[in-house]
Amino acid sequence: MTTPDPSQQSALTHRDFPASFVFGVATSSYQIEGAAHEDGRGDSIWDTFCREPGRILDGSSGDIACDHYHRLDEDLDLIASLGVRAYRFSVAWPRVQPDGRGAVSEAGLAFYERLVDGLHARGIEPHLTLYHWDLPQPLQDAGGWVNRETAQHFAEYAGVVARRLGNRVRSIATLNEPWCSSILSYQLGEHAPGLRDRKLALAAAHHLLLGHGLAMRRMRELELSAELGIVLNLTPMDAATPDPADVAAAQANDGTSNRWFLDPLLRGEYPQDTWDAYGPDVPQVQAGDLAIISQPNDFLGVNYYSRGLLSASGHVKPQTSSYTDMGWEVYPQGLRDLLRRLHADYTLPPLSITENGAAYPDVLEDGAVHDAERVAYLDGHLRALHSAMQAGVKVTGYFAWSLMDNFEWAWGYARRFGLVYVDFGTQQRTLKDSALWYREFLKG
Ligand code: FCB
Repeated sequence: MTTPDPSQQSALTHRDFPASFVFGVATSSYQIEGAAHEDGRGDSIWDTFCREPGRILDGSSGDIACDHYHRLDEDLDLIASLGVRAYRFSVAWPRVQPDGRGAVSEAGLAFYERLVDGLHARGIEPHLTLYHWDLPQPLQDAGGWVNRETAQHFAEYAGVVARRLGNRVRSIATLNEPWCSSILSYQLGEHAPGLRDRKLALAAAHHLLLGHGLAMRRMRELELSAELGIVLNLTPMDAATPDPADVAAAQANDGTSNRWFLDPLLRGEYPQDTWDAYGPDVPQVQAGDLAIISQPNDFLGVNYYSRGLLSASGHVKPQTSSYTDMGWEVYPQGLRDLLRRLHADYTLPPLSITENGAAYPDVLEDGAVHDAERVAYLDGHLRALHSAMQAGVKVTGYFAWSLMDNFEWAWGYARRFGLVYVDFGTQQRTLKDSALWYREFLKG
C-alpha cells in the first residue's frame, strides 16, 4: 500500500476549507432507486441493457437496487446522520416523462418533490442532476443521442423538472459525464445502449452537449434560484516517460477524454488535433451549435477517480502504485494536477468535485466494515483538493461517491463504492468505517 496513512499526518478537518464550502455525498437514480416498474415509470435504456445476456457482470439489474424509492425517509435519515451539508442525486427521466417527451407523470415529480422537501426538513442542500444515463427507451428506439431531436426532448424535460423544483434546489446539473453516455456507450459498448461505432459515438457526444446547451437556455428563461451547470468526468493523462511518442499518446488521450468536452463547453470549439485525428467520424455541427453549447455555466462539476498513464503502446500500470477494486490507480496527486491545469488553461466558473471515491471488496463482520483503504483514499484526495485550493483554484464543494453501495452499471453489485454498506438480501444499511471517518472529518 502506498496510500498515505492518515493517522501519520496531522488530521485534516472541514475547518481547513472555507466556511461556505459544501461537503456532501452523491448517488444516481438507476443505481439506487429500484421500483423500476412502479407508479408509471417507463423503461430506460438501462432496463433494456440489463435484460441482454452478458451485459452485466453478475447478470443483475437495477430493478430493486437499494430499494431507495420505498425507503426514502430511512435513507434521508441516513444521509443526515453523516453530518453532510449537501446531497447530490439524479432524477430518472422515465419517471417524469415515461415516453421521454410529452406526457408528464405526476407520481414521478411527486417523488422528487418529497425527496427535496425531506432534505430541506433535515437541513441538507439538494443538488439535482437531470441526466445520469437513464434515457427513456422510446427515445432510444428513435436513435437515442445519435438523433439530434433527443437534444430538444432533453431541453423540454429539463424545463419540466426545473419549473417544479428549480427554486428549491441549490444546483441543477444538466448531464453527468457525457463521455460515458457517448464514448463508453456508443463506441466502447460497455454501457447502454452497448454499441461499438465511433462515428455514432461522436454524433451522440455532440447531441449530448447540444442538449446541455438547449436545456441551459430553457432553464435560464425560468430565472431560477438554482445554480446551473454540467458535470464532466475528467482524467488527467500523464506520459509514462518524456519520450515524444509517450507525450503524444498522453496528448491524444487528453483530447478524446477531456478536451473533446471541455473545449466546446468553455471555448466554443472542438480541439483541432483531436478533430483531425477523428477524420471522417467527426460529428455534423450546425451553425450556432457551439454558441448554444458554450453559454456560461454557474459551476462546472468535476468527477475525479484516477489518472491515465500513457506510453506509445498504451496504458501503463506502475507496479509501485496501489489500485482499487476497479483496477484504477490510487493517485490523489492527479486531482491537484487536474484542478491546477483546468485553472491554467480555461476561463472557469467555480468548480465542484461532484464525485470522488473508491471501490474495495468490503466485508461486513460483527456489524462493522473496516475499509481502511477507502478512508486513506478519501483523506488523500481531500488533501490534494485542499492543496489545489491553496494554490488558487476556486472549488465550492466536494461530494463523496457514494452514499451507499449500489448498482455499479456493467459491474452489477460486484463493486462497492459506498460509505454505507448495503446487504442486498435484507437491504440493511451499515455505516462503514469510512462513513464514521467522514462524519468525524465533518465534525472537526
Ligand atoms: C462514475 C459514475 C457513477 C459511478 C462512479 C463509480 O463514472 O458517474 O455513476 O458509477 O463512476
